[in-house]
Amino acid sequence: MSTPEVVLEFRNVNTHYGPVHVLKDVNISIGAGQMVCLLGGNASGKTTTLKTILGMVVPTTGEVVLDGQVISGLPTAEIVGRGISMVPENRRLFKRMTVRENLEIGAYLRPDANLEADYEHIFSMFPRVKERLNQKAGTLSGGEQQMVAVGRALMAHPKVLLMDEPSMGLAPLLVAQNFEIIRQINEAGTTVFVVEQNANMALSIADHGYVLQTGQIVLSDTADALLANPQMREAYLGEVGGP
Ligand SMILES: Nc1ncnc2c1ncn2[C@@H]1O[C@H](COP(=O)(O)OP(=O)(O)O)[C@@H](O)[C@H]1O
Ligand SMILES: [Mg+2]
Repeated sequence: MSTPEVVLEFRNVNTHYGPVHVLKDVNISIGAGQMVCLLGGNASGKTTTLKTILGMVVPTTGEVVLDGQVISGLPTAEIVGRGISMVPENRRLFKRMTVRENLEIGAYLRPDANLEADYEHIFSMFPRVKERLNQKAGTLSGGEQQMVAVGRALMAHPKVLLMDEPSMGLAPLLVAQNFEIIRQINEAGTTVFVVEQNANMALSIADHGYVLQTGQIVLSDTADALLANPQMREAYLGEVGGP
């Protein structure tokens, strides 16, 4: 198999919140069309990594590179306009707005206004979203909100889709359905970078995985190798005998 062209890269990225050093010399490389996951426990720096891609956190040193161009330091809207969308932690829908309005917002940076084909595409993935179109987003179940959040992100026609803990707060059956959709989105050509605490689920669909521990990448390997790695199995894959 040939190595895909690198689409998104972290080069020795360090970030701070005031005096607190969070990401420490982080290097990540994501190939075009790949599904890459970033695993790590609570407070390890996963959300910070995604915020750094979107320009919501600016590296103190190092660079984030998209298609060979440095994007760190650019405004978030500019970065989104270059083809990066995020499904944030806890979905973050506009709860008092309808499902349709939430989807429209996802397309706000697109020059063309023909959204009907996009809606149809989203309804084909999530028939439930169509049923709920005129309902206030806040009235939906967690699983339905996740569908709308994914739909909203796809409305921007992203080249790279970022997902922050898509399994959080969802029942196991919904988690599995959710990951199946993520897999389909990736298979249709979108590069996906997914952050998760649910290592088993993420590695079961990813090509490559990174493990973050207190802001440092401590492991980086193919998903298959990580699933078989004894260190991984003890620390992250919930094996008996692990912490
Ligand atoms: N806005 C912020 N200001 C100060 N510290 C923060 C802020 N956001 C996150 N942190 C701290 O940075 C560390 C990493 O947080 P985060 O990236 O949210 O981790 P994760 O997503 O892996 O749970 C944590 O110790 C957290 O408390
Ligand atoms: Mg987080």
